[in-house]
Amino acid sequence: MNTILESIKNRRSVRKYKSDMVEQEKIDQIIEAGLYAASGMNHQETKIIAVTNKELRNKLSTAKAQFDGLYDGADPFYGAPVVLVVIANKDYADYVYDGSLVMGNLMLAAHALGVGSCWICRTKETFEKPEYQELLKSLNITGNWEGIGYCILGYAADNSIPNIPRKPNRVYHVN
Ligand SMILES: Cc1cc2nc3c(=O)[nH]c(=O)nc-3n(C[C@H](O)[C@H](O)[C@H](O)COP(=O)(O)O)c2cc1C
Repeated sequence: MNTILESIKNRRSVRKYKSDMVEQEKIDQIIEAGLYAASGMNHQETKIIAVTNKELRNKLSTAKAQFDGLYDGADPFYGAPVVLVVIANKDYADYVYDGSLVMGNLMLAAHALGVGSCWICRTKETFEKPEYQELLKSLNITGNWEGIGYCILGYAADNSIPNIPRKPNRVYHVN
């Protein structure tokens, strides 16, 4: 099967990871795929913050757990060692679509390279907090940015994730 079609059909959200770090070369390739996502009027007003720092990774995970009301010590990043934070510039009308397409590209590229991934939410709420606005500033990111999603990355601890059937009656043909 064509490799892009294969990736689209067989990518699954991975929710159990080995602690092994993903090779930098693969992280870079995945990020590059995100940067090549189409964007409304080609504004390219999205950014990706690649987090391999364990302390920050754990803080983001804890923030997500708190927003979701999970038990103390829960890791909603499922042990994944890498978090790609996708943010988009709210000054542009298509920012949510643009950021979401970046997320899609990241997940497909990860699958194509044998790396597991999952979209994790609460990026918006977390990056609204002053502490994380400060983090953006420390990276020289100024302006009106919204968190779109976390793309967690790592090697799957369990490769037997079942395929998820597609719901019927979602396509209409007008010939
Ligand atoms: C906008 C969005 C938010 C998501 N947030 C989470 C999340 O916080 N935690 C999680 O485990 N999965 C999350 N997912 C993954 C979905 O649950 C998953 O894509 C869906 O169950 C279908 O499974 P598949 O990705 O294997 O096809 C999210 C997906 C999307 C698109």
